[in-house]
Amino acid sequence: MKVQLKPNQSPVPEAERAARVAAPGFGKYYTDNMVVAEWSEAEGWQDAELIPYGPISLDPATAVFHYGQEIFEGLKAYRHPDGSISLFRPDANAARFARSAARLALPEMPIDFFVETIEELVKQDHNWVPSKLGESLYIRPFMIATEVGLGVRPSNKATYLLIATPAGAYFNAAVAVTVWISTEYVRAAPGGTGEAKCGGNYAASLVAQKQAATQGCDQVVWIDAIERKWIEEMGGMNLYFVKGSGANARVVTPKLTGTLLPGITRDSILTVAADLGYAVSEEMISVDDWRDGVLSGEITEIFACGTAAVVSAVGSAKSAHGEWKTGDGNPGPITMQIRETLLGIQHGTIADTHGWNHKVL
Ligand code: PLP
Ligand code: COI
Repeated sequence: MKVQLKPNQSPVPEAERAARVAAPGFGKYYTDNMVVAEWSEAEGWQDAELIPYGPISLDPATAVFHYGQEIFEGLKAYRHPDGSISLFRPDANAARFARSAARLALPEMPIDFFVETIEELVKQDHNWVPSKLGESLYIRPFMIATEVGLGVRPSNKATYLLIATPAGAYFNAAVAVTVWISTEYVRAAPGGTGEAKCGGNYAASLVAQKQAATQGCDQVVWIDAIERKWIEEMGGMNLYFVKGSGANARVVTPKLTGTLLPGITRDSILTVAADLGYAVSEEMISVDDWRDGVLSGEITEIFACGTAAVVSAVGSAKSAHGEWKTGDGNPGPITMQIRETLLGIQHGTIADTHGWNHKVL
């Protein structure tokens, strides 16, 4: 499979593009092009096409509109000080996209084909990659079921699409987010789709996010579906707890039980924190552990991590059972050190000793 290049012949004028890239927001502007690839059960994957960004037309009876058979990914291209552009661990996103596809009965896309579509779009739209620290081009691959008909069955047709948006900070790094631990709603249950990155997971999460906002909190924290006590994730990000301080600190993240999304940022931080000399572990952490830990001072910092925000401190937590604060409520030193180290690797200002950066241009 190849990517056939049929790029936009009337791209956004240079001055306007520069203004958009200078103040990108998140998901506010899209680049000049996108990639589309079609799959059918009869013929498999066809060549992808890089074409002008724009609306797509679908029959109202298309499967995805009715039964939500959809998956997506999120990754970033960073501009390095020498002007070059690198993707951060695109192979890991490709592998997760294939696992999500398998879970949602969608076709798996070959890893190299997936990465190639991203390389071609980033090469074509390289002028849209910002260069400030913390800014990047956020890349959104996704796949929808496109068989037309209302029968509930795995679609025999699928469309892969790839779009990109220049991205600034997702959260203000200087401010810790506040969280609402939801005891009413569940994000994922064993045997469900929690490990897959499918749109339906996010649709089902919005009412809890709304409840968090009603409680005056920025984000919702999910606990497990069975015992209703184990910490899983925060909104669309994984969580980390720092126990102790200084060189003896331990950096702990909830264990992947099958209901958490295995974040690529989470995985990278397991390595980065160990490289920085901290003891690192994956453990079961309960709501009581969280409350007792911050009250006793054993837990000194908490942060969330994901592609969009990279690392974001977590301050106050509130639930139906009370409210408590982490440290002084501000981002802690280990959180900021891990954030700066990971961002430094992504931006090419700190040595990439694990071969995570995938140079495109
Ligand atoms: N958890 C959920 C539910 C997510 O949506 C995401 C975002 O992609 C993450 C965790 C973080 O994953 P990653 O670090 O791969 O972006
Ligand atoms: C993340 O990158 O952390 C996300 O959850 C992406 C979000 C916009 C779905």
